[in-house]
Amino acid sequence: MRSVCYKAGKLNTFPCSVFFSRPANTSGLSSFLSLVGHHRVSEGYVLMNSYFEKLGRTVLERWQQENFSLEAFPELARIAIDESPPSENVDIEEMIHEFLSEDDQPFQSQSGFGQPELVAFNHQRFYIQILFWLEGTTDIHQHEFSGAFHVMQGSSIHAEFDFEGARSVTPHLRIGDLRMKQIELLETGRTVPITSGRECIHSLFHLDTPSVTVVVRTHHDPGTGPQYNYLPPHIAIDPIYADGLTMRRKQLLGVLETIDHPEYARFVGEMVESLDFERGFNMLLHAMERLQVLGEWEAVLAAFQKKHGELAKGVPDTLAEGLRRESISRMRYHIGDPGHRFFLALLMNVPARKDIFAFIKERFPDQSPIETILGWAEELIEPGDFGLTLLDAAFPENLDVPMEAQFDLLIDALRLALEDDSSNSKDLTREQSGIHAALSGSCLRPLFS
Ligand SMILES: [Fe+2]
Repeated sequence: MRSVCYKAGKLNTFPCSVFFSRPANTSGLSSFLSLVGHHRVSEGYVLMNSYFEKLGRTVLERWQQENFSLEAFPELARIAIDESPPSENVDIEEMIHEFLSEDDQPFQSQSGFGQPELVAFNHQRFYIQILFWLEGTTDIHQHEFSGAFHVMQGSSIHAEFDFEGARSVTPHLRIGDLRMKQIELLETGRTVPITSGRECIHSLFHLDTPSVTVVVRTHHDPGTGPQYNYLPPHIAIDPIYADGLTMRRKQLLGVLETIDHPEYARFVGEMVESLDFERGFNMLLHAMERLQVLGEWEAVLAAFQKKHGELAKGVPDTLAEGLRRESISRMRYHIGDPGHRFFLALLMNVPARKDIFAFIKERFPDQSPIETILGWAEELIEPGDFGLTLLDAAFPENLDVPMEAQFDLLIDALRLALEDDSSNSKDLTREQSGIHAALSGSCLRPLFS
């Protein structure tokens, strides 16, 4: 076993050794790396404290014996972490205190990754980062680095995907079919290998605040980029690629939006009719919400589909799913209860009701998943402008039901849907049908699948 450095109360007794070796050549890479969550390669390596020094040295020694094989690194890192898990050996309070009070620390990057990222060990070949997550939900993504991550505090929903039938439209945009191949709950103490490139496409939804992960990772694996983000179900885009003209056009549209310019929709429509697929899609992404408010969305989307034909087949579903996920992400900012956040994570990431039930049963085994969901729903219903709301589902205004009667009707409609079944739907009253439509058209949609 490795030493229990923090719990041993020897924070100030460790030699915080500094070793200098030849600096890595980082020219041209630094700004790129800081954007994608890598930090710049510093001169030599600097050690943070006894625990991470020992972990880093163990990984370094074993990897050197493997001639720094990239294929060997993820499993090697996972084994080293699991032999002495940070979740069992590092006191996070003490770690925070030490980081705040001790000046001898490894090189800290300017990376915007994590909330925040602390570098705990740094070497030319790899480094160890500690990532705090406050509202963190990641996009579905792949990596240009490899290694392993460990849940040091909190828990997360982890989903893995394949991008089937994929083809490149440009070097920065691919189309295909994103299929979830596995989804699991990662509790504190779990360690998961990360492989660079298209073989490892995944997403994380952190359930607790803060969640803390430790990542042992390479700086950058050449030839494994771009580090695509995946927009389910059909598009992958390179988030780093910067088209200056497109960026400025979006900013200019932002100006027109702010001043409520009467020609906004026409200008966007003309752009979509003339631009190539990649830039047209970017414009749709940017302007979708505004165009929907203006009632012009369908016409602009139709213009895009007409121009690009078969290539645009998956675009409407991708944009609709993007809005749904964005809506759940926003809700997560003001919903702090761990049970409610777990519910949101499932709604965002699990497409089928039976799988949602299975996750809930695993985490809350003492009552039925239906009762658990109904309990959350009762807690989450709140008054809106025109009636009660459940997350982004509003009680239908046209039903003309007084607010005091809406609560029971919402819960009853949800219970009916959860208990299913289609046999019941034929017998729904007008009120029940209206509420059913409101709920199934909201972020609660997976519960109706
Ligand atoms: Fe990742």
